[in-house]
Amino acid sequence: MAKTIQAIRGMNDCSPTESPLWQWVETQVREVLNSYGYSEVRMPIVESTPLFARAIGEVTDVVSKEMYTFWDNDEQLTLRPEGTAGCVRAAIEHGWIYNNEQRLWYMGPMFRHERPQKGRYRQFHQAGVEVFGIANPEIDAELIILTARLWKKLGIDQHVSLQLNSIGSLEARANYRSALVAFLEQHQALMSEEEKERLIKNPLRILDTKNQALQQVLDDAPKLLDYLDDESREHFAQLCALLDSVGIAYEINPKLVRGLDYYNKTVFEWVTSALGAQGTVCGGGRYDGLVEQLGGHAAPGVGFAMGLERLVLLVQEVNASIPLKSAVDIYLVYQGEGTALAAFQLAEKIRSALPQLGTMLHCSGGNFKKQFRRADKSGATLALVIGESEMLNNQVVVKHLQGGVEQQTLDIEKVIDYIQSQF
Ligand code: HAM
Repeated sequence: MAKTIQAIRGMNDCSPTESPLWQWVETQVREVLNSYGYSEVRMPIVESTPLFARAIGEVTDVVSKEMYTFWDNDEQLTLRPEGTAGCVRAAIEHGWIYNNEQRLWYMGPMFRHERPQKGRYRQFHQAGVEVFGIANPEIDAELIILTARLWKKLGIDQHVSLQLNSIGSLEARANYRSALVAFLEQHQALMSEEEKERLIKNPLRILDTKNQALQQVLDDAPKLLDYLDDESREHFAQLCALLDSVGIAYEINPKLVRGLDYYNKTVFEWVTSALGAQGTVCGGGRYDGLVEQLGGHAAPGVGFAMGLERLVLLVQEVNASIPLKSAVDIYLVYQGEGTALAAFQLAEKIRSALPQLGTMLHCSGGNFKKQFRRADKSGATLALVIGESEMLNNQVVVKHLQGGVEQQTLDIEKVIDYIQSQF
């Protein structure tokens, strides 16, 4: 036998038994986004490498360590590690935001070369939202309210909590950075080599260190909120007031800075303790300088992305009452001279009349016993049976596979009405 080839580490298949839950989660996401009037966009999975370096920042972990990058002749390309950069690129390229507001969403695979573990993969899926052209805190609040509605729909709202912070303007952050570095320089003895390097390249990332000794020291570090410019302070106060007014609870986390460089003002994360170490199910914030930085006319931006693997895991963990539908509702079995034709015709008739149901035709021969085993395995509610005598009498036997109802023989014209009455 030939040697088998396996999937790449950290890149998962979605099996036929897992896909109904994925589809259900994706449907809830789409329904919520549509109910807020947002429009779907689709961008390529591959973009030119400098886009990510410029948007996300050279010294971030994502760009410096985690990107899948390759040469295509003389052009360097990267599998997208996130969706914001590509969405902004597309918006500038097609004039989606010039003098205009846009509320957009996308869903699809992203790629980061991270160490795989539960909830962290090398190919993962995000549903993301990007809003352009609105500077008010109302839209920051809308995004958070929208996600809170989604958590309710998914049945996970009791298991996620909101962390909120403002990281202010570029200038405020530069002032804060100096104060933080001066403070941290006194504690270099506690730092790993990687943290010492961060102190030079990206000191704000030290705020979310996992190093416990350093975490304790950080409780006394200068706070970013104390360095905020007046405009950011006012924006943050208004956002908090809006969230209070609709009863959305949050914790202000002064150490929350996010791992991507484009943010300013609002940053937020929805976290859970039900998934172990990879507890952030959704993260986002404002990026008012990014459109201009990537060559567009200046326009404010704000958005978020959620990790679909983490949402699916969390739903599995905490919500036992999902109305998952089997792919097959009706299974048609047939045996005997000429019955295949009758079964094909009936199956097509049902699919035309009741396209919302999954109708499967047996197709692979064998006696009725074998066919019924398949029908049971398919998860269908009804089996329709056509043998030679049924065919000659223009009839069908209807059998309830989940039990409870007597099997009956119906005239073929009455079958559609009967099926309809059962779903
Ligand atoms: P991010 O925080 O890098 O932000 O990713 C958003 C979410 O994607 C995370 O909270 C997590 O749920 C999921 N995620 C990230 N990496 C992985 C991974 N390796 N495996 C599984 N899930 C993962 C962004 O990507 C920004 N573009 C969000 C944004 C949009 N900000 C403004 N607009």
